[in-house]
Amino acid sequence: MPYLMGLDISTTGAKALIIDESGNVVAVANTPQPISQPHPLWSEQNPADWWDGIASSIRTALSDANLTGDDISAIGLTGQMHGLVLLDENGDVLRPSILWNDQRTQAQCDYMTETIGFERLIALTGNRALTGFTAPKLLWVRDNEPEVYAQVKQMLLPKDYIRYKLTDTYATDLAGAAGTSLLNVAERTWSSEVLEALDIPADWMPPVHEGTEVTGTISQAGADATGLKVGTPVVGGGGDQAAGAIGMGCVTPDKIGVTVGTSGVVFAPLAEYAYEPDGRLHAFCHSVPNTWHFMGVMLSAAGSLQWYKDTFAPDMNFDDLLKEAKDVPAGSEGLFFMPYLTGERTPHPDPLARGAFIGMTTRHTRGHMTRAVLEGVAFGLKDSFTLIDNAGLPDEFEVRISGGGAKSPFWQQIIADVLGAPLVNINTTEGGAFGAAILASINAGLYEDVATACETMIQTGDKVAVGDDQAVYAERYAIYQTLYPVLKDTFAKL
Ligand code: XUL
Repeated sequence: MPYLMGLDISTTGAKALIIDESGNVVAVANTPQPISQPHPLWSEQNPADWWDGIASSIRTALSDANLTGDDISAIGLTGQMHGLVLLDENGDVLRPSILWNDQRTQAQCDYMTETIGFERLIALTGNRALTGFTAPKLLWVRDNEPEVYAQVKQMLLPKDYIRYKLTDTYATDLAGAAGTSLLNVAERTWSSEVLEALDIPADWMPPVHEGTEVTGTISQAGADATGLKVGTPVVGGGGDQAAGAIGMGCVTPDKIGVTVGTSGVVFAPLAEYAYEPDGRLHAFCHSVPNTWHFMGVMLSAAGSLQWYKDTFAPDMNFDDLLKEAKDVPAGSEGLFFMPYLTGERTPHPDPLARGAFIGMTTRHTRGHMTRAVLEGVAFGLKDSFTLIDNAGLPDEFEVRISGGGAKSPFWQQIIADVLGAPLVNINTTEGGAFGAAILASINAGLYEDVATACETMIQTGDKVAVGDDQAVYAERYAIYQTLYPVLKDTFAKL
């Protein structure tokens, strides 16, 4: 029986997953990854840790499944987007990778916007220059570490460093490349206009591939380190959000994905390239060949609830905490929570935005506060959903929900009521690694295209209908929308 492997280099772990041809998960192994924050706003990891971690996860997954490298027909890669990996002429790493959640590059973002022009930059790259994206990180290294910059010969994204170690080939996928701010997203090629304007050598960019295309095969060194077989094909795969959307079957414009992880994502596939002129939504290439997607990203979704529990109820479990919130009426009797604990991206691209409880009285209990957090996150998702709706949703669509934070039926009900859209659960919880393995299934000759693979490998589960609280939330959301504009300048001063 053919098996497929998906590899995910996330911020927290290096995961290897094996599925069979029907999409059943036969093994998952994860090696936690350390993260370093050597200065305020900085966030870095060592590519060598990813490599050690994924090599160990691959070996463990093969052995847990009682398989060898010979049983794996094809491999797909996914991972954290936007991170910068710099290599010298020998392919050696020049400095720790600067990650997607690093916020040091505002000056470089301003420079990019001034040099290329706000409207032109968004039309070409689908996005504003954002501190998390790759291009401003490269400019930061040029401005601050000229001795490192002088040795650069190759730029890679995190998962593509693993691709290089596995296959001895420099390559990336289009969904990942779209998160660099250096891709012409409509044409699916590196943007010579942006590269020239920023004076970045085009030959530092790896060749770009569609998510299902083979980018190389396992090398002898890759095989020795992992137990995989020499010659096994590795496909493009995708950035974690695109691959995660494939794992949810969100491959056509009628399937919208909502993911409630640490961050909260609303993902809408597009058949044609489109961008939001103000750049508040991301517009990226999808990992389904020749398609694109809109995406809204809120930075602290389940991350808000985790922070709230750790800070105010460390000894309670989530179930008990949420039970208290259930006894409180929808709308939390006028208490609002703004979920901008780590700044925000959509709809407010503002690293200085802050979290807040607004509207507290002596009547409010912990249950109210918990419910306000759940509702505030749902309002944040609604912001992204509304932007996507304004940009044009199809007449009929289904909203699929996944992510560790979305397991609570109570929170799912709040989200359905706030969005005013029913939700459909998905059978898998393996996210991007599962989607990457699905992308590999096409090359393995198991399915004709990604949509067909998803139809077979992904099952839908419980549905959540829109409930009676929809009307209350519509009123509350209108108030919620007025809060950030009033507090924006205050947040900046804080
Ligand atoms: C997507 C994004 C995150 C990171 C880390 O734009 O920033 O999904 O890829 O997971």
